[in-house]
Amino acid sequence: MKHLLAALVVAFPLAVFAQATTPPTAPTLDTQRCATKLAIALTGRSADTALLASTNPQSQVDQLLQGAAFIERFSRYVNARFNDEPGATSVEDAAYHLSRHVLTNRLPWSDLFLGPFRVDTVNNQVQVVNDPNGLGYLRSPAWLRRYAGNEEDGVKLNTAYRILNNTTGITLTAAVVVPGLDTSANGRRNAACSACHYDSWFALDTVASVLTKRVGTGNTMRFEPPMGGPKTVLNGVQVSDDKGLVTALVNSTDFEFNVCRLAFGFVYGRNELACEGPLFDRCVDAFRAQRTMQAAVATLVKDPSYCR
Ligand code: HEC
Repeated sequence: MKHLLAALVVAFPLAVFAQATTPPTAPTLDTQRCATKLAIALTGRSADTALLASTNPQSQVDQLLQGAAFIERFSRYVNARFNDEPGATSVEDAAYHLSRHVLTNRLPWSDLFLGPFRVDTVNNQVQVVNDPNGLGYLRSPAWLRRYAGNEEDGVKLNTAYRILNNTTGITLTAAVVVPGLDTSANGRRNAACSACHYDSWFALDTVASVLTKRVGTGNTMRFEPPMGGPKTVLNGVQVSDDKGLVTALVNSTDFEFNVCRLAFGFVYGRNELACEGPLFDRCVDAFRAQRTMQAAVATLVKDPSYCR
């Protein structure tokens, strides 16, 4: 069994930087360099001749964002952000498969977490299956098994953390503990553990208590409905199952900020800087209005600052 002790909370979400300084003005990139920068960032390829010849490459952003190269690249990026390592098999990388589907069909980004789908293997092929009982990729069988964890009573702490991380971006670091430490639910009430497991808005044990329970391991693993009725999670929301939990998370401002964090990381390879607060806010506004990831990314790469 994997015993974990988490060392510290690395990052809490997520602040908008209200006071900003004006970025220094710099000469504008010529259109060919702007085209190249856009094509590499969005598709991973050099610009094609039409884009290179464009007198305003940023006017081509919407087409780039609808293309297969962007969709593939962004979905791989999302998968890398949502998982610590690639899945053992492709079907475990459920976020990758559903991200492709959501981007291709220009669905609201929230459908990645709430839409009526599941990622499953059908006729030996990984597919996005329409499923009225689906919860984005979060009820996909292979994903559920991947993150079921090893807790002794089947409490799905790993799943709870993965849901919180994927929706809000919260990052917690867990470390291996010495043998003999009480890692049971009782042990997790100790002062060294309870901050993460019981006493915060992301209290992992409370969040996990509304999820299904793991019974068995390996090939015989199955899931039983949660026991114990509704719980108050996330600073005061009452939920009784995974759907209620994920709905509350997706309706939070942390979710919107994390969308733009993802977009920023994709476009710039880093988090936003303080002086980029106004641009970050415009990204959140565009996402609020249009609900697609494309709207968030477009705000960043259509901004005049991108080709300066
Ligand atoms: C900084 C936050 C934090 C603290 C403090 C913390 N944990 Fe955790 N714990 C986590 C996270 C995050 C996970 C989920 C890890 C993952 O998904 O890989 C976790 C998971 C676990 C699991 C489930 C492992 C599994 O494979 O299912 C156990 C058991 C556990 N912690 C015990 C403890 C104990 C005992 C303590 C105190 C000695 C403790 N934790 C302190 C964050 C914390």
